[in-house]
Amino acid sequence: MRVRSGEMLASPRGAPQDEGTIPGRVAVRAPGEDTVVILVTGATGNVGSELVRALAAAGEPVRALSRSGRTDGLPASVQAVAGDLNRAETVRDALDGVRAMFLMPGYEGQRAVLADARAAGVERVVLLSARSAGTGDTSNAVSAYLIDAEEAVRASGLSWTFLRPTSFMSNALRLADQIRAGDTVRVPFPDAYTTDIDPYDIAQCALRALLDDEYTGRALELTGPEALLPADRVRILGKALGRDLVPVALGHAEARAEMEAQMPKPYVDAFFSFFVDGTLDESVVLPTVREVTGRAPRTFEQWARTHAAEF
Ligand SMILES: NC(=O)c1ccc[n+]([C@@H]2O[C@H](COP(=O)([O-])OP(=O)(O)OC[C@H]3O[C@@H](n4cnc5c(N)ncnc54)[C@H](OP(=O)(O)O)[C@@H]3O)[C@@H](O)[C@H]2O)c1
Repeated sequence: MRVRSGEMLASPRGAPQDEGTIPGRVAVRAPGEDTVVILVTGATGNVGSELVRALAAAGEPVRALSRSGRTDGLPASVQAVAGDLNRAETVRDALDGVRAMFLMPGYEGQRAVLADARAAGVERVVLLSARSAGTGDTSNAVSAYLIDAEEAVRASGLSWTFLRPTSFMSNALRLADQIRAGDTVRVPFPDAYTTDIDPYDIAQCALRALLDDEYTGRALELTGPEALLPADRVRILGKALGRDLVPVALGHAEARAEMEAQMPKPYVDAFFSFFVDGTLDESVVLPTVREVTGRAPRTFEQWARTHAAEF
């Protein structure tokens, strides 16, 4: 394991002596042990980076894993490590002293990583899944890899929570090149209303699921606060950027051609099945984020203002 920043392990937070016995919280510091950690995989990504920040702000010792082991943008107290979830042997050292972990779905090494986690004494895993896992449709390539990840976690013997969010608000970053080039913004699936969620809110729910027993054995279906069309998001983004952006609906054939240039065809078929054939309904707002975090999920307008500089 390559340590890229901070101390070998962050100092245990200034918590009560009997912290490990507080009901409803995972024992992040067992009696007699010096250091136990929460491991965040995908730590430099949209959700993982928000989670690392949230855990660090809560005073939890955090180990942040990505292939790069990058440290930029992570709080100084966080220990960044390099590991590849497709190669379990590169993740093994990062499991040392870990009690709870946040796991990204869909990597070849996931069963081996989970077995290593169990052997290392990890107690709890919070898996990033998605709404489509709830369809049970293994003929859909996207649902299939998420269902497989959930099955691997269920079979691991670890305590688990699944997070099943809708589409991420951060997907709007895919429009950044078009927005830099001009005011016309072409969007696929123009008729699909979705309740996109801010990765910040997914991370806030992950935080609670990592720290509280209450969510063990539950699949949390997470949505944003409002159902919007792609064109609505372009207009809101334009307002945040002080621009008059004009959304243009991509025809399905055109959208398919563009997507097939960027991802394998089975995944393109999967998204067409979701948002053209209507096999996935992400248009309904659910109360879960508010129930878990105690406050309303962030709006797309808030996300756009926060991330304006990335466009
Ligand atoms: N986008 C959506 O609308 C949506 C909706 C529901 C669920 N999801 C799920 O969310 C996940 C993406 O989450 P995100 O947007 O937060 O991630 P992201 O921004 O795409 O970042 C991916 C993170 O994982 C790390 N990573 C990539 N490959 C890795 C590997 N082989 N081993 C270890 N780390 C690796 C990356 O860092 P390095 O590159 O340095 O390794 C980075 O930290 C997907 O798995 C998807 O299924 C997405």
